[in-house]
Amino acid sequence: MEIGASLSSIELFVNNLAASAGFYERTFGFNTERRGNTVHCHAHDRLLVLLPGNAGQLYRANYRFRTVFGFEAQRRAMISRGVPLMFESVHGFSVQDTEGRLIGFLAPDSATDAPATQFRPARLQHIGVRSTAPAALVDFYVSTLGFVISDRVLDSDGDLSAAFLRTDSEHHSMAIFRSSETRFDHFSCETTGWPELRDWADHMADVGVDLAWGIGRHGPGNDTFLMIKDPDGNLAEVSSDLEQCSTDRPVGVWPHRPQTLNQWGVAIMRG
Ligand SMILES: [Fe+2]
Repeated sequence: MEIGASLSSIELFVNNLAASAGFYERTFGFNTERRGNTVHCHAHDRLLVLLPGNAGQLYRANYRFRTVFGFEAQRRAMISRGVPLMFESVHGFSVQDTEGRLIGFLAPDSATDAPATQFRPARLQHIGVRSTAPAALVDFYVSTLGFVISDRVLDSDGDLSAAFLRTDSEHHSMAIFRSSETRFDHFSCETTGWPELRDWADHMADVGVDLAWGIGRHGPGNDTFLMIKDPDGNLAEVSSDLEQCSTDRPVGVWPHRPQTLNQWGVAIMRG
């Protein structure tokens, strides 16, 4: 059973605050606001917080629960599994994954929601991270945090090269990719359909940013997508038509090959 939360914001370390803020303002239509030593990039349904630090690393991803019941159940589950709670307040708490990233779990309707502004629709929907030990990381997210595996990608030796995990009915709110380095891979904003994805691609052309990957269609999740690359080498995705999963959906298994990551055949193989 899914925990009943969805991605609401991410906090990302960057090399150059001004450069990254300017990039995301142009490309994703964020309004940017300096707060202390951070920059909040916000638009309707998407919030990205930039922090100075170790570029290419995720500081925290925040998942918001739909119900107080679900949020309290998650808090009790973390305590019963011996997970230390950090930054605990009435609005939420954080836990640390086995590679040092923070995962925030937020109560419904706290005051931290992004202010509503209008640009092209695209709701912050999932993140992907790269890991040198993906099987162990997936095990932590599933066994300890309660994420559910939708699809696994296995290489010819049967070793895990990618996994797609969900926290509600959407196919994945987190993806884990095997890589030679442990770092952030990408975030994705889900737009409202295929014509809107085309419009996003046209918008990227208008602001002079080439697509780094796509337009394509992922195998796991079956979503169409485009990706651009930010100044720190992070990928930023716009997707559409992501698969909706029933609670009893069987775990899918895919072969490690380009056509799994892009059914149309051109893929970024992380490792
Ligand atoms: Fe993605």
